[in-house]
Amino acid sequence: MSRGLDACIFDLDGVLTDTADLHFKSWRRLGRELGYELSSEKNRELKGVSRAGSLDLILKWAGRELDDGEKQRLMDRKNQWYLSEIENLGEKDQLPGAAAFLDQLDRNNIPYGLGSGSKNARTIVKKIGLAHRFNWVVDGTDVQKGKPDPEVFLKAASLMDCEIANTIVFEDSVAGLIAARKGGFIAVGFGTDANLSDHAHFVIDSWEKTSLDEIRALVAEIN
Ligand code: BG6
Ligand code: MG
Repeated sequence: MSRGLDACIFDLDGVLTDTADLHFKSWRRLGRELGYELSSEKNRELKGVSRAGSLDLILKWAGRELDDGEKQRLMDRKNQWYLSEIENLGEKDQLPGAAAFLDQLDRNNIPYGLGSGSKNARTIVKKIGLAHRFNWVVDGTDVQKGKPDPEVFLKAASLMDCEIANTIVFEDSVAGLIAARKGGFIAVGFGTDANLSDHAHFVIDSWEKTSLDEIRALVAEIN
């Protein structure tokens, strides 16, 4: 069965804007309060992982066990710091070429939505000036299970009423690509992380260098 391109679902963090360093700063600060120094290598393992999932990993690495109330308090603290980090995000923080790629989709009548695990996604997409471009948004506040569970993408696809096998999910994280695959989507890695190609149907590394025609050609080659 050859696949076509009917619709797209975009992850947000790392795909339309780069917030990884801002998450890192906030988690590292929290880690230090627990006497644990989060390295940038370990931080990479948190990409695409939900807030609660990230805290659980950090606690595991720190060798700590906390009750649910304490964990909630720590997540709230981290998010307060993160919210002050994203305060100054603006249109300048769109990844280069992202809006122009959405223009190409618009010109070709290809619908697209947002599928992010972040509970701050609606705030961020507004700050970077792309909120009006997305008719469908599913974020961390809408789902029970974080990536690598496909819930966020399945929910977006159901709102969009699109054919899953012909819908691309653009993702910068391994967790997100695994989720896309599990859901039956076309999993397209975004970025230069060498691990992406193990989980993606194909990988692109920038919006500026990518045309819709190239994407269509790559989709047609998937078997
Ligand atoms: C993902 C990020 O998009 O959202 C993760 O890649 C982050 O690093 C997750 O932990 C949850 O984000 P938030 O904003 O709900 O804490
Ligand atoms: Mg991401």
